[in-house]
Amino acid sequence: MRRTHRCGEVTKKDLDKNVVLNGWVKRTRDLGGMLFLDLRDISGVVQVFFDNEKTELYEAAKKLRMEDVIEVTGQVRAREEKNINPNMSTGEIEVGATGLTVLSKSEVPPFVISDAENASEELRFEYRYLDLRNEKAMNAMVLRSKAVMKVRNYFQRHNFIDIETPILNKSTPEGARDYIVPSRIHKGKFYALPQSPQIFKQILMVAGFDRYIQMARCFRDEDLRADRQPEFTQIDAEMSFIEQEDIFEIIEGLMVELWDLIDVKLSPPFPRLTWQEAMERYGTDRPDTRFGIELVDITKAAQETGLDMFKGENNVTKAIVAPGASEWSRKVIDELTEEAKKMGAKGLLWIKMEETEVKSSILKTLGEEKTRTLAVAAGAKTGDVALIVSDSFLKASKVLGHLRLVTGEKLELIDKNKFNFLWVYDFPLFEWSEEEQRYSATHHAFTSPREEDLDKLETSPESVLSQAYDLVCNGTELGGGSIRIHRPDIQKKVFKALGISEEEAEEKFGFLLKALKYGAPPHGGIAFGMDRIVAFLAWEDSIRAVIAFPKTTSAYCPLSDTPSEVGTKALDELNITLKK
Ligand code: AMO
Repeated sequence: MRRTHRCGEVTKKDLDKNVVLNGWVKRTRDLGGMLFLDLRDISGVVQVFFDNEKTELYEAAKKLRMEDVIEVTGQVRAREEKNINPNMSTGEIEVGATGLTVLSKSEVPPFVISDAENASEELRFEYRYLDLRNEKAMNAMVLRSKAVMKVRNYFQRHNFIDIETPILNKSTPEGARDYIVPSRIHKGKFYALPQSPQIFKQILMVAGFDRYIQMARCFRDEDLRADRQPEFTQIDAEMSFIEQEDIFEIIEGLMVELWDLIDVKLSPPFPRLTWQEAMERYGTDRPDTRFGIELVDITKAAQETGLDMFKGENNVTKAIVAPGASEWSRKVIDELTEEAKKMGAKGLLWIKMEETEVKSSILKTLGEEKTRTLAVAAGAKTGDVALIVSDSFLKASKVLGHLRLVTGEKLELIDKNKFNFLWVYDFPLFEWSEEEQRYSATHHAFTSPREEDLDKLETSPESVLSQAYDLVCNGTELGGGSIRIHRPDIQKKVFKALGISEEEAEEKFGFLLKALKYGAPPHGGIAFGMDRIVAFLAWEDSIRAVIAFPKTTSAYCPLSDTPSEVGTKALDELNITLKK
């Protein structure tokens, strides 16, 4: 018999029709003499009714267990008024069973599907096919599919060409470790899985494709968090003969269409913040602007107190004000101090502006009047708490940027229903790494310096700003990109500033440098974490929820037990011996 309807699609329009349904037994309720069965498939759930007038059928239904796969034939009838369920698409009807075939039995599942969220992640991932039967998980995958269609459709309308780039590849420097694949034919040599299609998409611009798009699988061996997986999908785009503003416009249009999927109307242009402004006001290059509390520079007021701790040559003193938080207990203040220390601060100064008195970690040293002056300089009023950090600009900003988020959460100031998008641009081209005692690229090595900063590349690299930009939503970096270097001479200078020797540059990126010599158009692009975007659309905190077969935070797949060992024969062929 052929299925006539999907479970969730039988409605009042089908009254009295004979239907054939397939699906999984969600649950049965035997009321003695009559049995109700909830039958589930991807479209939803429908109620099937068995009565003991058809004894054989009723007895067969009684034997059904959760997650058995069955075929039911029956007739659609209206539910009694009191049994109508307005929350279900099929809530006004039920199907009176006239036939039942068991297509496949199920063992007792390790967790109840509708309660999957309470099972451990390891168990859910091991039985991901059961986990995905949960309505929420399945809906997330359906939403993801719709989002992918939207993206492809959008870019096609804007003349982008979809091109696949290699997976077996040379290393792309995106700041993580590579996953490497040994070559059998070229013994002792390895491919690297792409951290991104960066170099190939630039080469496609040299080839003249003008506008490129790819839903690109990327691989990065890095510490995993809620928004990071070892393999993930980028919406990867590149355009020729454009400026930063063209990228912003194209991408804003895409975001509008994507958020349309969940009926949220975005209104571009999104706010734009230079990196400097973002650091000054929010202490981070990915500000969450769903709530206020901005960082205030109180260096002058701090120095006027005469205290030594505010005097260091490169010291700035910055503060945030936690509004109405003067009730905070000592425990909360200690917690915040710990958070500050975790971020590398030497300590945290706090001033509580209570109704009748001022309390502070520096009250004894400074006296009431000066302490109060400092808090007022930070913008604190009666009832507030000022949190103060004195350190280098970057350190003080980053620590307070973090405390700002903790404060926003604690005081419940963050409107979780908002989507606040913004662009951050004018990033420094280089970052100084204390650990390695050298510069690294803030975005990546192919990012163009700003025209006006070109002559500072050799003299003061730390002051060179780049044409890199990030799109941020609610404090998460959704995507990042840049206008690229299209002149080999500038590319060489940037490699030099990064401490990459000519030989190393030739060996690693020689094929790009060569391509740049054969008529490279000015070009630029951007890449988005598709998984992060879908997580937002699905209101999920972790990207694992929107990936069909995710890995755990230790980069392990419990479903397939991956990674796994390789037989000696395969290793021999690859000329590989494992260390004991
Ligand atoms: P970037 O390294 O900033 O840029 O990556 C772009 C976006 O990819 C997402 N992303 C990740 N998502 C999940 N798991 C991960 N491990 C992970 N790493 C990154 C983020 C990030 O914003 N080639 C450049 C882009 C360009 O210049 O055009 C690049 O890859 O959402």
